[in-house]
Amino acid sequence: MCGIVGYIGKENEISTLFYGLKKLEYRGYDSSGLAFFNGKNFKCVKSVGNMDRLKTKLNLSEKFSCGIGHTRWATNGAVILENTHPVISQSGEWILIHNGIIENAEELKQRYKIETLGNTDSEIVANLLEKKIAGSSLEKIRDVCSELKGSWAFLILNRNEENRIYIAKRKSPIYFCDSESGKLISSDPICFPSKEYFSMYDNNIGFIEKDKIAVYDANLKLISPKKYIFKNKEELGNKGKYEHFMLKEIKETPERINKICEKYTEDYLEKIFKKNILSSVKFIKIIGCGSAYHSGLMGAYYFRKNLRIESEAYLASEYKSSRQVINKDDLFIFVSQSGETADTIECLKMVRRRGAKTIVLTNVLESSMAKLSSVVLPIYAGPEIAVASTKAYSCQVAVFYILTKYFKKLLGEEIDFEKEKDKLLVAAEKISDLNEEEIQNISICCEKVFFLGKGKDYITSLEASLKFKEITYINSQCCPIGELKHGSLAVIDDCSKSLIFLSSKKLGKKVLNGVHEITSRKGKVLVISAFQGLVKTSDKVESYFLNCRGLSSETMPLVFTVFAQYLAYFNCIARNLNPDQPRNLAKSVTVE
Ligand code: G6P
Repeated sequence: MCGIVGYIGKENEISTLFYGLKKLEYRGYDSSGLAFFNGKNFKCVKSVGNMDRLKTKLNLSEKFSCGIGHTRWATNGAVILENTHPVISQSGEWILIHNGIIENAEELKQRYKIETLGNTDSEIVANLLEKKIAGSSLEKIRDVCSELKGSWAFLILNRNEENRIYIAKRKSPIYFCDSESGKLISSDPICFPSKEYFSMYDNNIGFIEKDKIAVYDANLKLISPKKYIFKNKEELGNKGKYEHFMLKEIKETPERINKICEKYTEDYLEKIFKKNILSSVKFIKIIGCGSAYHSGLMGAYYFRKNLRIESEAYLASEYKSSRQVINKDDLFIFVSQSGETADTIECLKMVRRRGAKTIVLTNVLESSMAKLSSVVLPIYAGPEIAVASTKAYSCQVAVFYILTKYFKKLLGEEIDFEKEKDKLLVAAEKISDLNEEEIQNISICCEKVFFLGKGKDYITSLEASLKFKEITYINSQCCPIGELKHGSLAVIDDCSKSLIFLSSKKLGKKVLNGVHEITSRKGKVLVISAFQGLVKTSDKVESYFLNCRGLSSETMPLVFTVFAQYLAYFNCIARNLNPDQPRNLAKSVTVE
């Protein structure tokens, strides 16, 4: 995914465009660029690397009145200057930035004999515009878009029209707003100073001028853009006293869990659901990507355990292509922090077309996914800026927990809903009590790391392993501990460390068998256990006691997860890496 900004209005310093774009750096940071008219000339400044590199090439006080900017997370073409946006057509007439993916770009390149400097799909589109001879600029853009397959949010400048930014959208998010000084465009409304903003529908095109916004459908019929109000504007994040967003966000977890408990009353859920959503439901299917998929696994575990309704979580990127059977009595829950992940959105659209019941569980109520479902459950995590998800994951798990208890009541079970919720508050306290200093001292210096667990601890291990590899770049794998002997033991040796999560005494014996299997292959082991004295330590086996006293077994994973997030964070810092902007990763991936 990529970040896009645009501005047209009163003369302004280029720093406004730069810092507007900087807010979107979480969407991609392997290269960036700006293109603008400075009153006399057109300028395009680009750089590979993060935006600090771009800054060194700019005169931030330079004036401009119309410009566009892009920060890239490379999905199409390598990270080189030629592939950095804005991309410019051969004659220099068309300047374009793009978020999304053009699936038939190569085919168009061959058909129209297009030559490009780099190898992005976006540059092919800029050149295709140049191939169109007839019609106005708007008609040319319409004609080009009608030939494209895939997804796009385009901002386009024409070298001969310095008072206009063209805009086109299909599947990828793009918004605009009116501010005091001029009109702003962005792929994320967090950039906007005002709470009110607008968006376009898929396949719309249009243009924005200093005093005019015009949006058209694919037949060039003028239409009204969609108006939105940003609800969480005040909460928009800054790092405060913390060095990194990731640390700040991990630390916000307890307060966010408290917020969830406060918001999620029975009344609140009744208002959201209106009627019994579980009536006739035989299967609950949860879909997400990355950490959201892992929280879905935990949700499915809660549902199976408490409701005895068949429940499974699926990876969105696999769901569509794995010939899944969709039945009328399925209930689908889509989980996404951002609400913009393309794979998840595509599944949601497909499921809705088939008429199944859907719920969206998200942190962003203004997101594309929230707009696609009539039932939306907010996770109240507040803005999450660090790329690797932390508090949002925990909040998703907390909402799944509460939902499970609510569903249990719907099924006619006698439970004290408020009392069940209180168990989450105890978990929040335990999270606050985690001993950061101790965790900081757990240094993991080895070639490969294994995260292992059983049952719900396996789910925690999946998330722990993902977090660890995302930000430390150490080769980390996750394996159910019982599966070790079916292959993974082959790569256990004295260069490996296995971290085993143990939150259930009942499973202790089986887990200890795993420890034995590993140490007899010279592997080192660290058992993170909720029980003291269960593990015999030795030169190969260490143990860390995680105080979960007084916690219900269902809420323990929250404490284990936050432990794992700190562990990943401190090991990342020890390796001198930036946890907020890990390599090859974006906050939400808006291409399939
Ligand atoms: C990316 C992020 C992950 C996130 C996943 C799903 O891979 O780096 O942290 O879990 O996308 O994002 P979503 O916004 O749908 O939860």
